[in-house]
Amino acid sequence: MSKNKPKVFVTMKIPEEGLKLLAEHVEVEVSEYDGVLPKKVLCEKVKGVDGILSMLADTIDKEVFDAAGPNLKIVANYAVGYNNIDVEEATKRGIMVTNTPGVLTETTADLAWALLMAVARRIVEADRFVREGKFKGWRPTLLLGTDVYGSTLGVIGFGRIGQAVARRALGFNMRVLYYSRKRVDEEIEKRLNATYVDLETLLKESDFVTLHVPLTKETYHLIDEPQLRMMKKEAYLINTARGPVVNEKALVKALKEGWIRGAALDVFENEPEVEPELLKLDNVVLAPHIGSASYATRIKMSIMVAENLIKGLKGEVPPNLVNP
Ligand code: DGY
Repeated sequence: MSKNKPKVFVTMKIPEEGLKLLAEHVEVEVSEYDGVLPKKVLCEKVKGVDGILSMLADTIDKEVFDAAGPNLKIVANYAVGYNNIDVEEATKRGIMVTNTPGVLTETTADLAWALLMAVARRIVEADRFVREGKFKGWRPTLLLGTDVYGSTLGVIGFGRIGQAVARRALGFNMRVLYYSRKRVDEEIEKRLNATYVDLETLLKESDFVTLHVPLTKETYHLIDEPQLRMMKKEAYLINTARGPVVNEKALVKALKEGWIRGAALDVFENEPEVEPELLKLDNVVLAPHIGSASYATRIKMSIMVAENLIKGLKGEVPPNLVNP
């Protein structure tokens, strides 16, 4: 690095551990704005910087690259998903893009399971019921849910997180089906007791369908009306991947008309907006994109994102480069 420390703009405050590490090597400016920076402000803030530390809610595109100018060498995303960044455009301009894979795998898999259990056993409804003073004593038919143990789990997307979700299913003696772009090694299938099937089979046979694909042109609305209609009436859809993988309007219809029994969503098509119809439904559990939100994981992510920036700005290949 040159004598003048490179400048990095951080679009939202992240844990101190990462910021401290970063500050040892670069000049850091952290956004003080409470929330996602409006595009105009973001463009002003990144003028002349060498690096941007972005969040998954920031749209980092041509406009931002133009605003930053020729010094910009790297955009390090504080997330494993990087659909918010125009990687093709970045690559054309020689700008590196990095993400934070691995460190959030287990935490996100935990959340997928938390949602699965919550919707199957109606935990959120039950909590509301108690708080509203409706609990008048045990009843044979009070808040009946669906058994998880021994049921069939369908995992769509069988990368790190999909596999971590499947691994947890072993403890519940579940049959695991998976659908993925690529079939994984036989050894992994054996270890996870997972069977590769086509999407249609997975949708038709699973009691719980959980999504773990990145958002790409191919996965946009992967779950739409025809796919929801293929699912069992007693089945549930869990989405901790990206909102636009599911057509939310079709999902509302499915939940209202009983094509499926329920859904649990950590992500939405137009975050942070939530389809108003979803808010009215009892058979859906909603979370505000907290897949990786554990204390420990967010610290690990902050260190990883800082290391990516430091390496990239030193002219080295950052460990989590995603440019092709
Ligand atoms: C990610 O890192 O992409 C996750 O969605 C964060 O929860």
